[in-house]
Amino acid sequence: MDNGITLVDISYQSPREQAFWQTVVLPRAAIEAEVERLASIARPANGRRAASVNHPMNTGPVPCFAPGIDVAIMVLKPGEETTPDLRNSSRVDICIRGTGVVKTGNKEFRVEKYDVWNTPSMQPQVVRNDGQDLMVRLSYSNAPLLERLEVHYVNENPQIAGQSDEGRELAANQRRAREASKPIPIGSDGAQMLGYEWLVDIDTIDSKALHWPWKEVEPHLGNVYSMDLGYTGRHLYVLYNPATERRIGTSPSFFATIAKLPPGKVDKPHRHTSAAINYIMWGHGKSAVNGQKIEWQEGDLHFSAPGWSIHNHASREQGFMALTIQDHPLHIANESLLWQETMKSPILKLGTDYGIQTNLATVAE
Ligand SMILES: [Fe+2]
Repeated sequence: MDNGITLVDISYQSPREQAFWQTVVLPRAAIEAEVERLASIARPANGRRAASVNHPMNTGPVPCFAPGIDVAIMVLKPGEETTPDLRNSSRVDICIRGTGVVKTGNKEFRVEKYDVWNTPSMQPQVVRNDGQDLMVRLSYSNAPLLERLEVHYVNENPQIAGQSDEGRELAANQRRAREASKPIPIGSDGAQMLGYEWLVDIDTIDSKALHWPWKEVEPHLGNVYSMDLGYTGRHLYVLYNPATERRIGTSPSFFATIAKLPPGKVDKPHRHTSAAINYIMWGHGKSAVNGQKIEWQEGDLHFSAPGWSIHNHASREQGFMALTIQDHPLHIANESLLWQETMKSPILKLGTDYGIQTNLATVAE
């Protein structure tokens, strides 16, 4: 065919073997050196002194640390601020040094070391360093997936900031056009036919920037740190954003958890299709991922689990604390979140199969 389309015979073909990206650690020293380098360059016009952490197996089109997750090290010098931009990717950020003010729409909050916040898609944000030290944050986004789909919308000079509050109210009060389109049942199992209006006027949720200040999160971590070593779950809390509903996320694509493991805890080998990146906030430990052993400590960024690879993590004599970002809600929305809690357990599809039961009720007694 002269239009370039080819027909590829896939009869008799076995399923493609998945190429798991290997587990890797970006050490604290490399992050600190990059922070110093970013602080030394001329201020970019958009205010974003940033380096994206690129996994050695990444084939593009943009730098990323897991196939669907990028992590940018972002630096602001004292008094500097970023310019607002509009993107259809969404983010989760953690401040790892200094202090700043985050302004998203008309919401503003002050952040300091280990504060976490999310930034919804299409909400311009300004981050300002209001302290005397450098302000450093790790910013995780789902941009790599959108870039792969060639639909990452980025407007660095936004003139409109989406629907105004008045516009939203007006729209909410008017009769919806879809009410004039009656669903047509097909068969008796729930299948229907719906008119166009249902496609373009879907039910909305209130997606907003939320802030988990470290000083409010930290006091609760003692609860998971002091749990019995025989606990079969994970010693963590998820930073839950109600806009993600049953997908239990921090952003529509990612969950962020803060784990605090007691000394001597060894998780059972398990796997899930969601990919995981750990930032070690305190302590040290080791992992086995796809048969590869790796060690890490405070300040390191660990690509800790390629989706569907068998892995487990273990603390040592001190325990450890880590922020984990995983593209778990994205998979739930896609009905692709497979989970195997131990290598002897069944492979479950979370969200439609009945979920995993830990021994929490027993150990909490
Ligand atoms: Fe895991």
